Amino acid sequence: MRVAMIGTGYVGLVSGACFADFGHHVTCIDKNQEKIDMLRAGGVPIYEPGLDLLVDRNMREGRLDFATDLTEAVRAADVVFIAVGTPSRRGDGHADLSYVYAAAEEIAKVMDGFTVVVTKSTVPVGTGDEVEAVIRKANPDAEFAVVSNPEFLREGAAIEDFKRPDRVVVGVEDDRAREVMRELYRPLFLNETPILFTERRTSELIKYAANAFLAMKITFINEISDLCEALGADVQQVARGIGLDNRIGKKFLHAGPGYGGSCFPKDTVALSRTAQEAGSPVRLVETTIDINDKRKAAMAERIVKACGGSVDGKSIAVLGLTFKPNTDDMREAPSLDIIPALQKQGATISAYDPAGTVEAEKHFTDVKFASGPYLCVEGADALVFITEWNEFRALDLDRVHDLMRGNVVVDLRNIYDTRQMTESGFVYTSVGRAG
Ligand code: NAD
Ligand code: UGA
Repeated sequence: MRVAMIGTGYVGLVSGACFADFGHHVTCIDKNQEKIDMLRAGGVPIYEPGLDLLVDRNMREGRLDFATDLTEAVRAADVVFIAVGTPSRRGDGHADLSYVYAAAEEIAKVMDGFTVVVTKSTVPVGTGDEVEAVIRKANPDAEFAVVSNPEFLREGAAIEDFKRPDRVVVGVEDDRAREVMRELYRPLFLNETPILFTERRTSELIKYAANAFLAMKITFINEISDLCEALGADVQQVARGIGLDNRIGKKFLHAGPGYGGSCFPKDTVALSRTAQEAGSPVRLVETTIDINDKRKAAMAERIVKACGGSVDGKSIAVLGLTFKPNTDDMREAPSLDIIPALQKQGATISAYDPAGTVEAEKHFTDVKFASGPYLCVEGADALVFITEWNEFRALDLDRVHDLMRGNVVVDLRNIYDTRQMTESGFVYTSVGRAG
């Protein structure tokens, strides 16, 4: 099949490369000339494990190419995906759909023959109807069907998630389009991946409900972790104890500094706005948003407390800046709340992130970026772990202790054992555990 992918960001590039790996011919299109030039030259603009090899292999085999103009690819395509951004709209928190509608209009003007137009971007219920109207208006004679096919991949594990998903959801009301989508995902069908066909609106809501549920699950364990601290219990054991119940499930029960990223924050807010306007508010989601915002803000105070009540004039080493490991994405990362709050109280910050430094440099001022964890901790009064990159899990603690001036460690991801840290001479604070 021939696929045109409009938008070559995290989702567009990963999905495009994976569809090419399934054997389809894919053209990834983006307005950003720099991005397309880089991809054509063999580079990959984002940090995502395994993506460089996947892109390279499929380019060499002639199944994957890149363009800034969509005309040729859309004309030839059986399926056109819209995978552009849907950020929070300034002011009201609704999803900004201007990129989606602009892409739909451009597609409409050049489509040729029966074309399936698929929204892969996360879009509110009813957007498919609007996309249909936009296309119809721009090209009244077009033969097409609009399908919803939300994406559930996680950054940092994107290829595995795309190729071995728990399920694929397709919102489609046109028989021809359903067959095209079945053919497109046939390689997953063969792997016995459940493919759920629904009406379009239902599919659109499934995506928001899934993200909101996961955000609530994280927020639930974060609140339980505060309670553990108040009562002297251990949140990791509580998480294990409840997660072994299959009805609850053990994933997404890691307590931490609050969820961040390009999707949970914006999607929970967008869902709550949609629900309010529909007269059916989702109060659990509204509360989740509120708790998470406050939690991220409160993390700096936790660090100040661990430092004896003041960070004025103190040097703090931060390990991990991105919103999660294995990505260079800084969107809504907890570090964006924590570092400026510490600086405001007089702390000087040195920081290290394995992949996020280039992005992080755009967000922080007066932060000294180190090129490795040991250089980062040199002379620090306190060390704070914000993101649980694997390379932070087995540091030489004696060396860290010798390099630091002070001995305070605040571990916001529980990557170390309290006893091990204490035995190494640190005054150790973690999340939801004694110590
Ligand atoms: P992104 O910002 O990384 O990429 C979007 C790309 O679209 C940009 O490169 C931009 O230049 C391009 N673009 C915008 N308008 C265009 C147009 N008219 N023609 C061509 N290119 C255009 O965004 P992303 O993180 O990939 O997210 C895309 C969508 O997927 C969002 O709706 C998001 O909520 C959803 N989503 C994201 C993830 C994730 O992990 N990032 C996972 C699932 C779903
Ligand atoms: C999330 C969803 O997991 C994907 O299914 C979805 O497709 C995507 O959003 C999206 O719609 O964009 P992502 O944001 O890439 O994926 O990363 P997650 O692994 O979900 O982590 C999100 C945030 O929650 C991170 O800040 C992470 O540190 C935090 N988190 C996650 C926890 O604090 N505890 C956990 O147990 C899990």
